[in-house]
Amino acid sequence: MPIEPSRGHSEGIGEALFPPSSVLRIPNLKRWGLKVSIIGATGYTGAELVKILLRHPEVEIETITSQSFAGKKISEVYPRLSTGLVCQSLDAERIASSFIFTALPHGASMEVVGNLYLRGKRIVDLSADFRLTNPLVYEKWYGVAHKKKNLLKQAVYGLPELYREKIKGARLVANPGCYPTSAILCLAPLLRYNLIKEDSIIVDSKSGVTGAGRKLSLKTHFPEVNENLSAYQVGCHRHIPEIEQELAKLAQKEVKITFVPHLVPLNRGILSTCYADLKDFLKLKDLVEVFEDFYREEPFVEILPQGCFPQVKDVVNSNRCQIGLTVDGKRRRVIVISTIDNLGKGASSQAVQNMNIMCEFEETTGLS
Ligand SMILES: NC(=O)c1ccc[n+]([C@@H]2O[C@H](COP(=O)([O-])OP(=O)(O)OC[C@H]3O[C@@H](n4cnc5c(N)ncnc54)[C@H](OP(=O)(O)O)[C@@H]3O)[C@@H](O)[C@H]2O)c1
Repeated sequence: MPIEPSRGHSEGIGEALFPPSSVLRIPNLKRWGLKVSIIGATGYTGAELVKILLRHPEVEIETITSQSFAGKKISEVYPRLSTGLVCQSLDAERIASSFIFTALPHGASMEVVGNLYLRGKRIVDLSADFRLTNPLVYEKWYGVAHKKKNLLKQAVYGLPELYREKIKGARLVANPGCYPTSAILCLAPLLRYNLIKEDSIIVDSKSGVTGAGRKLSLKTHFPEVNENLSAYQVGCHRHIPEIEQELAKLAQKEVKITFVPHLVPLNRGILSTCYADLKDFLKLKDLVEVFEDFYREEPFVEILPQGCFPQVKDVVNSNRCQIGLTVDGKRRRVIVISTIDNLGKGASSQAVQNMNIMCEFEETTGLS
């Protein structure tokens, strides 16, 4: 998509479309950037988007919205975000930017996305509202009616490693969930090459507490989480149908998984351990080669050398996914471990990666 020259600057440097060069003593690339808006900028993923996009050389943040903090500067909500941007209450008619990130809770997002889509915007939606292709599955797992079923066919699942070409032409990208990103990246090469039994997959994941969002709850209260480790929504977490949907597309047949998420006393980060039975015995060396080949061109997926396993410390605050694997020869089982930042590759930086692809910017821009 061509980059439109901006008309003025949100931080008041000047209003003229082509100001005299003397005004621009310091080259300000952002003057000519794509204007973007962030709906729900005060949540954890929204604030992370603000942080990343403030440093993105092709982008100018035009509007940020919040219901609870309307009228306040985002720097009053998050002092680390040093910008004059002021939160506005959401009014779709007043949003001029052509590119929008929606970072709202599921259920609340679908109406907003529908409205913006009708106005011709390009959207990356971080909620679960457009990830599941079957609205009945969505309604069963999320317990709310899907009010924008007509848009489900337009939405592209935003995992660049699998859908880069479709993302390029998309107007609506459904940014994947954090656990699904970590699990699918572990299992994709194995299912694409038909190497594992589809009914044997177990995904065991651990997440930091920001995965639950900023709203207050007893579950994420400090004394409940600190020095603790607990499983939750065992076998019934809402990310199960999303993971199964994507694994089924890779396997070209139905896939059912066992998924157990855990909450760990970290702010950010996910570690997922995936177990599956191999159809035929394969040496670890050969499996590592399969993974290296599959992700060879991927700027954000790194396969660790044999004997090395990832840790969240190495991926937090990045868009990276690190993967390590081994073979349990006696049981003919492969074990694949991935780490991501739930707010990074699991949400906001992956959303920016999707924007880069949609807008034909260099895919790693603003993310290295
Ligand atoms: N946290 C993660 O690691 C993660 C990872 C992947 C995907 N996601 C998904 O990304 C979305 C945002 O997650 P989050 O963690 O950033 O959530 P969050 O911290 O709870 O923030 C939600 C944002 O939406 C606004 N909001 C809440 N209810 C609203 C409503 N009914 N209508 C309009 N705005 C509303 C909130 O602020 P105001 O009250 O100020 O408007 C806030 O800005 C969710 O759908 C989540 O599932 C989260």
